Amino acid sequence: MHQNFWQKLERPILGLAPMDGITDSAFRQMVLRHSRTTAPSNEQPRLPTVLYTEFTTVEGLAHGAAKPLLPFHYDQLEHPIVAQVFGTNPEAFYQACFIIAALGFDGIDVNMGCPSKSVSTHGAGAGLIRTPELAKEILRACRRATIDIAAGRSAAEAGVHPDIVAWLEKRSPHATGALDDSKRSPLPISVKTRLGYDRPITEEWMSHLLETEPDCITLHGRTLNQMYSGRADWDEIGKAAALIHQERPETVFLGNGDIDSLHDARQKTADYKLDGVLVGRATFGNPWFFGGHQPTPSERLAAAAEHAELYEAIFGGGPKVFAPMKKHLGWYCKGFPGSKELRLELMAADSAAEVKEIIDNCPLFKQP
Ligand SMILES: Cc1cc2nc3c(=O)[nH]c(=O)nc-3n(C[C@H](O)[C@H](O)[C@H](O)COP(=O)(O)O)c2cc1C
Repeated sequence: MHQNFWQKLERPILGLAPMDGITDSAFRQMVLRHSRTTAPSNEQPRLPTVLYTEFTTVEGLAHGAAKPLLPFHYDQLEHPIVAQVFGTNPEAFYQACFIIAALGFDGIDVNMGCPSKSVSTHGAGAGLIRTPELAKEILRACRRATIDIAAGRSAAEAGVHPDIVAWLEKRSPHATGALDDSKRSPLPISVKTRLGYDRPITEEWMSHLLETEPDCITLHGRTLNQMYSGRADWDEIGKAAALIHQERPETVFLGNGDIDSLHDARQKTADYKLDGVLVGRATFGNPWFFGGHQPTPSERLAAAAEHAELYEAIFGGGPKVFAPMKKHLGWYCKGFPGSKELRLELMAADSAAEVKEIIDNCPLFKQP
């Protein structure tokens, strides 16, 4: 039987969690570069094992808008990489799968965990936990799409907006047509979600999701109402793992929430009998996370300059484009003597060249 990429990944799966406004291609590439402590070799699995894009709206894509395509930018070295989408309209999810397949992603992830008001009050993200029938309809629409794609249906035939079909064709002339034989296995479908809406309903919610036979589920150990407060409930994650092992062991299961070190990631995977975990906030200003390296202040500053340069090379220049890079600069420049003053200087920088100049002139940078 065909094995999807999730089943083939080395265990434990240690992935970088999707984070809107943070895990863009520049940050993901920084993590890939710096989470290797030694030269890559055949014995060493790549870390992080898997990457996700920031989420984007399926309804925006269905309307032919260009902005929702931005989070789909990635580099070939980022494989395996999963595209994450949110929304409520099953037909829009169906069409989004054709775009994701044409762009060469390794999987499609449906966001059923976002608690932000702009997403969940419209019933999307974690809002879908309250409408399990719609959640299942969406996952079935994605499954139907991946089967149709593998059978040779094109993006245009699937009703993808003509502006987006034209954009895809410009990027890669054959991307919107039938896929070649090597791409004919249906793309795997995953879900990233929470324990419940206002209280944990973990087992009931997992059972709903399993009815659609997802290839992977990631569970963040909080409810929607908890947002990011309190502690993630790993016992609930453990309960979900036991249920999935029993009901559908083919579904890969990842835990998520508050992991603060590589050791913690491995320990939680073992303790709760998981396939692996996703790590989010512990990677802020810490692209070394998955290699376990503890950077010196000088290495942190060198990484800030490198990240800014990579960001500009990918997304272009100008103060408005550069603005989202500033939070990363703040995170790199933290926790060492003199970091506060330097951080203020970096916050005023509007380009990679300015960042480099500030760092080159910083006495700390010259220290080992
Ligand atoms: C700023 C921010 C943006 C996030 N954006 C997304 C997103 O686009 N998609 C998603 O599934 N989760 C998103 N999350 C949730 C994280 O993927 C993760 O589930 C959560 O942060 C808990 O993991 P952690 O404790 O390791 O950070 C976001 C979290 C943060 C803090």
